[in-house]
Amino acid sequence: MIKSLRGMNDILSEDYERFTYFIDLASNIAQKYGFHFIETPLLEETALFKRSVGESSDIVGKEMYQFIDKGENDVCLRPEGTAGVVRAFIQKKLDKAGGIHRFFYHGPMFRYERPQKGRLREFHQFGVESFGIDSVYEDATMIMMVADILKACGIGYRLQLNSLGDQNCMPAYRENLVSFIESVEDEICEDCKRRKSTNPIRVLDCKNEKCQSLYTNAPKLINVLCSSCEDDFSKLKNILHDNEIDYEIDTNLVRGLDYYSKTAFEFVSDNIGSQSAIAGGGRYDRLVEFLDGRPTPAVGFAMGIERLMELIVMPETKRDGYYLGAMDDEAIDLIIKLTQDKRKNFKANCDFKAKNLKNHLKGADKVNARFCCVIGSNELNDTTIWVKDLEAKSEKVILLEDF
Ligand code: HAM
Repeated sequence: MIKSLRGMNDILSEDYERFTYFIDLASNIAQKYGFHFIETPLLEETALFKRSVGESSDIVGKEMYQFIDKGENDVCLRPEGTAGVVRAFIQKKLDKAGGIHRFFYHGPMFRYERPQKGRLREFHQFGVESFGIDSVYEDATMIMMVADILKACGIGYRLQLNSLGDQNCMPAYRENLVSFIESVEDEICEDCKRRKSTNPIRVLDCKNEKCQSLYTNAPKLINVLCSSCEDDFSKLKNILHDNEIDYEIDTNLVRGLDYYSKTAFEFVSDNIGSQSAIAGGGRYDRLVEFLDGRPTPAVGFAMGIERLMELIVMPETKRDGYYLGAMDDEAIDLIIKLTQDKRKNFKANCDFKAKNLKNHLKGADKVNARFCCVIGSNELNDTTIWVKDLEAKSEKVILLEDF
């Protein structure tokens, strides 16, 4: 038997209901915040992710579904959504047009990671990207939008916050950090040794316990932010406080993608095991320029839908629509016709086989129909139909012309 690939799941039945429930809910909220839907291709040039997510990141270094296509192009399945949206933004010349552009998207992302609970190779994100606003109020708006979405889903969270500085304060900090890393270099893991020269700040979120204990003494960027970053960070904290959003400062939160500056945040859940990040994002003011666009401030986030699906509290599903069935073979054609009629305005299911009443009531239950409607030989003679309202628990026989 051929099975789906490791770390790639089918989404159907009850899962699919959760999945679409979340996407509808999140899309609705994003639209209320003034965001418009964007769809970008699943396949992009590999160079796009190398230049945005960064060659030193695990995502690009180890996890890309990358191949040469039949036209000799080096392509890969997108590991995340931001890079494609930025490419589209530049390709459509929206960077040159100026102004504010806000997008939301959802769809599959691919990362060749080691699968485990909450960590898939094909997973789905809901994300938003906002271009053209150089104000920390937009960063706060992003965070408030995630909080709104999670609240609407009945999901509790902890918000972790950090500032990654900018070109003014980051270079000096990086030098400082490299000196520190050199002082403990003999004891750190191979990955961290590599990160020292590619992207030293990434050592701070190394998962190795020994490294983590060594880095408790590492210099902290948050203590040496330049005045603009410092002002923005304290303003962000004030806005969140004023809007009753609790946060924790996590000086080791550096995110797994290289394009961030200033605000970085992650929402985590304590109820889904070790893969606890349910949303992550931040500001990326230099990415448009890195991808050859006109410099444009930008900020965004993405949420992991599979992780959220474990936590969503679904509203009670109400009985809805019609179930129709025949008790005699002669009534089947009529049942089909009546079902088609009902489908013009309602959800309607029918059974193609003649069955007794008990089995039809079971069938109606299975599809969660509000009305179970049955025609047997008596009803056929009288041109009536027997209808049971399964919610009100009342039943009656009515003329077909009134049905
Ligand atoms: P990210 O933190 O890499 O950020 O991913 C966002 C979310 O996707 C994570 O918080 C997690 O819930 C989910 N996720 C990531 N990897 C997996 C996986 N292997 N299996 C299941 N879920 C996963 C980004 O992708 C950025 N593009 C976010 C962003 C948008 N920043 C600015 N704009």
